[in-house]
Amino acid sequence: MSTNKSIDFFDRQFRQQPPETVLQLNPFELVILPYLDGKVLDFGCGMGNLAFAAAARGCSVTAFDASPAAIDHITHRATAEGLPVSAHLADLRDHQLVDDYDCIVSIGLLMFFDGPTALRVLDQLQDRVRPGGIAAINLMIEGSTYVDMFDPSSHCLFAPDELELRFAGWEVLHSKLQCFDAPMATLKRFTTIVARKPQKN
Ligand SMILES: C[S@@+](CC[C@H](N)C(=O)[O-])C[C@H]1O[C@@H](n2cnc3c(N)ncnc32)[C@H](O)[C@@H]1O
Repeated sequence: MSTNKSIDFFDRQFRQQPPETVLQLNPFELVILPYLDGKVLDFGCGMGNLAFAAAARGCSVTAFDASPAAIDHITHRATAEGLPVSAHLADLRDHQLVDDYDCIVSIGLLMFFDGPTALRVLDQLQDRVRPGGIAAINLMIEGSTYVDMFDPSSHCLFAPDELELRFAGWEVLHSKLQCFDAPMATLKRFTTIVARKPQKN
């Protein structure tokens, strides 16, 4: 699998992460968790905090990420805790999904792809949600000035309203813009959307 600066950044961070922080849900995961049900895909799962929290609520979770440290951690934890979380190493810039899901989550991933790739991947995620199912997408948007984790040749920042426009025709259950302070007086701006796919007529 090819790697890049972003993948290496997170793999290194996950290897150094103190064990107690591994179990904490981030603010986006806390918002999205109550919407998850049934067969769930976590696309860009990191250390799997959300995947395990969803599995503990009765979901069966398939999780993908390009960090070997994250996938090893999730695989061992799933065995140790006997929870239905299956984790797979993959470069998600170019990954063909073969199943449909009740819920698809992607938190903090798509900004690590170039613009056309991010839109193509988002299309695929929307396609793979079953009718009546849920998509929950979070990404960094324009106005973010923290760029340490970006690969110079491969990243994008959506316009603040772009994600909502991409979900036209879906029932929006949650939509929020958020701004956080980042190192060296920089900012991280995010948008999060949770939306229900229309039922087929
Ligand atoms: C900001 S973290 C988010 C992780 C998790 N969703 C969370 O909310 O904690 C970004 C994740 O994207 C993954 N990632 C970055 N580029 C990737 C790529 N090309 N393919 C697969 N995963 C990638 C990183 O390994 C990392 O786990």
